[in-house]
Amino acid sequence: MGLVNVSTGAAMLDLRSFGAVILVCFVVVRIIVRRYWTPIADILGPILASFSALWQVYHLWKGHIEEELISLHKKHGYFRENEVSVSHPDAVKQLLHANIAKGPWYSIFSMPDYNYVNQMSELNPRRHIEKYRNIAAGFALSNIIKFEPHVDAVLQNLEEHLDKLCDSGESVEFDKWFSFFAFDVLGEVTFSKSFGFIETGTDVRNAVENTKVLARYVAARGHYVWFHNLTLGNPLLSRIGIQPSSHIFDTCLAAIDERKRNPEIRNDMMQRWLDVRDKYPDRMAENELLAAAVGNVGAGADTVGATAQALIYYLLRHPKYLQRVREEIDTAQARGELSPMVQYNEAQKLPFLQACLKETYRYHSAVVGGLPRVVPPGGMTIGGRYFPEGIVLSINTWVFHRNPEIFGEDCDSFKPDRWFQKDTTNIDSFLIHWGAGYNQCPGRNLAQFELSKLLTTLIRDYDIELVDPTKEWVFKSQFLAVPSGWPCRIRRRMTK
Ligand code: HEM
Repeated sequence: MGLVNVSTGAAMLDLRSFGAVILVCFVVVRIIVRRYWTPIADILGPILASFSALWQVYHLWKGHIEEELISLHKKHGYFRENEVSVSHPDAVKQLLHANIAKGPWYSIFSMPDYNYVNQMSELNPRRHIEKYRNIAAGFALSNIIKFEPHVDAVLQNLEEHLDKLCDSGESVEFDKWFSFFAFDVLGEVTFSKSFGFIETGTDVRNAVENTKVLARYVAARGHYVWFHNLTLGNPLLSRIGIQPSSHIFDTCLAAIDERKRNPEIRNDMMQRWLDVRDKYPDRMAENELLAAAVGNVGAGADTVGATAQALIYYLLRHPKYLQRVREEIDTAQARGELSPMVQYNEAQKLPFLQACLKETYRYHSAVVGGLPRVVPPGGMTIGGRYFPEGIVLSINTWVFHRNPEIFGEDCDSFKPDRWFQKDTTNIDSFLIHWGAGYNQCPGRNLAQFELSKLLTTLIRDYDIELVDPTKEWVFKSQFLAVPSGWPCRIRRRMTK
């Protein structure tokens, strides 16, 4: 028996070694094939990036992939790495404005599992456009403007909390308050009721913290969707509710439930979507309603919060611009052109404020991950370089916005005056903070609406200064670039 055992053990050992050799061979062959047997083998860049998405995952995790990409493009030119990052100016038109399929990375947004393909995770442009058609009416500016009194109420609530902080002399963490503001606005606009972030002064359902984890998760796991589908994105596990996106579902389900019992429902976004569903039941599936709500809550808070933070932060870092915005706002106020909670159309008439906002969109784009697209049948040529069908080409907003060929040699500086050049049509078409084309951000009207109101009102009403001007803010670019760590002291300047 013993002998038999020994020989069985030896056989098992041999089998294991054989398995290990096969595995190593497989990995080596795969690396060689992906590195050298590909039509993009000549594209220069880090070795790891040429055969594995791990390079991207590592830099996403580390937190500043945009800096890495900007410097690599400066070194090597227009085209970079395995999923090819493209910075050639023609790419915006050829990749984003063309109706071509999105890269497989987007599939990570099928939530709670791969059976729920929503507009964001839909890779096929035709089906994506069909899905968007069902929800477009809710995002129209004409619809958004109707919510103005309710957004004003959120803004007023925010000011009441800020006033208390003025009185107590406590510092203000704008990262927290701007996220709260954006979440509550989404509640008002989507479900006719704020979520109560500002009212309670707390991170309701830990949504702000959880969204950070979710952003980190999608940024990295999107490169290994197959693994996500086997694990947390698997229908068997998705019901347990342990995914990084579960909080958004819970929040939306609770809001939809509460909405049904709310006697003061307005013609909110949900109502617009329900109307479409009632009118065209065969066109819009039931779960698309939830998917659209989840899309709003998942995509519309941190993006707005990060942009609001960036505008205030860069004005504090450039006092001459802060003074110019102030003068513009104060002049409008003195002429009686501004309401207590500044109205959207009033803020649109402040050219320097709007130039600062545009420069913030450029200088600190909230979405910092690449926007991948798949080369269609027949291949495509960009900037004289041919790419065959199936290659993933991606555009990184930060790389574009910091391209001196497009935005000039001063592209690394925050300079709102660039938007007053005689002809801005050229740089306008390269401002891609919303993305561009069929997959462009549907929430852009709402974002521009709330940011204009929020920032004008706060800059008019408060003096703001950094608690420690020697300390920089911090942020990690993991799909979104949401900063923190720049506490401020504020003082009321405009009486209530
Ligand atoms: C300053 C604020 C915002 C910025 C910079 C921004 C930017 C973006 C970008 C770059 C994309 C991806 C485009 C692509 O993949 O090609 C996107 C998608 C999206 N955004 Fe926004 N966004 C903002 C605010 C909002 C708001 C307020 C909402 C909700 C009301 C929203 C809802 C969405 C949704 C649902 C998607 C997915 C769209 C799709 O795949 O079709 N966003 N956004």
